Amino acid sequence: MKKVIIFLSFSVLVISLLSFVELRPTQAEYADLTLNRYAEQAGMPPVIFPHWFHRIRFKCKVCHEDIFLMRQGSNDINMAKIIQGEYCGKCHNGKIAWAPLYCDRCHSGQSTIVIPSARGFLK
Ligand code: HEC
Ligand code: HEC
Ligand code: HEC
Repeated sequence: MKKVIIFLSFSVLVISLLSFVELRPTQAEYADLTLNRYAEQAGMPPVIFPHWFHRIRFKCKVCHEDIFLMRQGSNDINMAKIIQGEYCGKCHNGKIAWAPLYCDRCHSGQSTIVIPSARGFLK
């Protein structure tokens, strides 16, 4: 009987540890930032910037504040500047990181704008 109780409490411990481990990816995604000043209006899905992914690879100083001001939405980033090597393009230039050719790697958000004509059609 005693053994059964020990086994049961051990199982409970393992299960609670497992559910803790399962929560971790969600915590990493907590730091994802959405950049959507222009993207959706221009017909592209919003940009999801994986902040944590970059933060574990670079010191804060690499980006803040030489490349990006440290306030969400405070940087006037657009595609032309990126292709010219500014903002994300300081690294996403085919040298430090992949070039900005793979649109959906950055434009990975969910579009919320419904085109007016489509809305009329759905009604
Ligand atoms: C690869 C570049 C990069 C690195 C490295 C980086 N950040 Fe950022 N950070 C950004 C970008 C891009 C934004 C969003 C700016 C915008 O929305 O205009 C941002 C936004 C922020 C913000 C405001 C949004 C928020 O979540 O509150 C804070 C605070 C911040 N960073 C802190 C840090 C700290 C602390 C580090 C180092 C541990 C760091 N960043 C490393 C690129 C970077
Ligand atoms: C300081 C350099 C630097 C800057 C600035 C930077 N990145 Fe990156 N980024 C990287 C590197 C390095 C990788 C990893 C490349 C690889 O795996 O080949 C990466 C990977 C990514 C990934 C893929 C993440 C994954 O899960 O594989 C995305 C999305 C991304 N960057 C978006 C952006 C966006 C959007 C910006 C601008 C707001 C930006 N990056 C600015 C260096 C940078
Ligand atoms: C390295 C990440 C990255 C990649 C790859 C990327 N973009 Fe972007 N793009 C951005 C960011 C950041 C913005 C500014 C987001 C905002 O605030 O609206 C943007 C904005 C835009 C805009 C809004 C209008 C404008 O002039 O800026 C369009 C359209 C666009 N991108 C198209 C594309 C297309 C098409 C591709 C593939 C050929 C692409 N993007 C690849 C990061 C990226």
